[in-house]
Amino acid sequence: MQREPQAFDRVLSSMCTEPHPVAREAAERFLATNPGDPGTYPTVAALEDDAIAILGEIAGLEDPAGYVASGGTEANIQAVRIARERAEAKRPNVVMPESAHFSFQKAADVLGVDLRIVPVDEQYRADLEAVRASVDSDTALVVGVAGTTEYGRVDPIPALAEIAHSADAMCHVDAAWGGFVLPFTDYDWHFGHADIDSMAIDPHKMGQAAVPAGGLLVRDESLLDELAVDTPYLESTSQATLTGTRSGAGVASAVAAMEELWPGGYRSQYARSQNNAEWLADALEKRGYSVVDPTLPLVAATLPRSTFDALRAKGWRISRTATGELRIVCMPHVTREMLASFIGDLDQLEVRASVPVVSDD
Ligand SMILES: Cc1ncc(COP(=O)(O)O)c(C=O)c1O
Repeated sequence: MQREPQAFDRVLSSMCTEPHPVAREAAERFLATNPGDPGTYPTVAALEDDAIAILGEIAGLEDPAGYVASGGTEANIQAVRIARERAEAKRPNVVMPESAHFSFQKAADVLGVDLRIVPVDEQYRADLEAVRASVDSDTALVVGVAGTTEYGRVDPIPALAEIAHSADAMCHVDAAWGGFVLPFTDYDWHFGHADIDSMAIDPHKMGQAAVPAGGLLVRDESLLDELAVDTPYLESTSQATLTGTRSGAGVASAVAAMEELWPGGYRSQYARSQNNAEWLADALEKRGYSVVDPTLPLVAATLPRSTFDALRAKGWRISRTATGELRIVCMPHVTREMLASFIGDLDQLEVRASVPVVSDD
């Protein structure tokens, strides 16, 4: 097999990034290990405890419990599963803002719960009145997002946790993308700020670990019991993960990246990414495009469809929000030079579009 993976030099819309060199190296070393079978692979199982300890520190969780999942999707599905198991309702529901990731649709499908999707306010954050109005005695879970996929917004997490608990429901925070930048902001988003029960926080996004390395954290270890099944043929007794065999590469690279970067490296990465986002937003605004303020390192802007298509044809890996805006995520691999080159291509397209067509006759 001679093929090489694509380079990152034109990737502007991914929420994954080039792994940090120490994470890449650790992933390779632990490629053939399986933390799903801790009796056989105790070294990587112990590394997973280290991963959860650091994730807990990042997320303000004093007595951390959880596991390294395959990604945010698995963590979100498992959070819904815990809440469903705890709920007494025959047909439990989950209340979440329309900005929540589509993984919750998968959770609802496989777990047989109803999704109650509420609107966001003018700042793209969960509308609290709408959440209050949707919660009832069948509500198992209220979801808040700390770093939304399309606009990088943080929902009012403490208020959402209050609403959830007043209805005897649980509260889950999806910080799959935001978890490694929010510690350096003033937002209230984690276990230390609000009475939340579970969280998705992914090392393989802003954490610079190799894929697959997601994180599920729970406030109380007993919540994992809701997920555990007996494992008769293994030397361990039960398993709480959704997948069976798991990649030790993800676990090892998460630990390597976090040991290397938490907190100083992540802090300077956040500053660099945020500066890049603000620079890009400014560059787009100066050219007359309407831009959604990048409160985290993610820029959305209105761009004509034809310009968007022409940029993709030039090889830029960009994507659009549900309402059609250009969406650029300033991940660690996204440099100022890349963004300047992107704006250079945009300018060329604009010049061409503004040159009047001259007829020969
Ligand atoms: C906020 C949020 N949650 C969950 C996910 C799903 O994560 P994964 O693709 O790792 O399963 C994403 C993916 O971008 C996300 O942005």
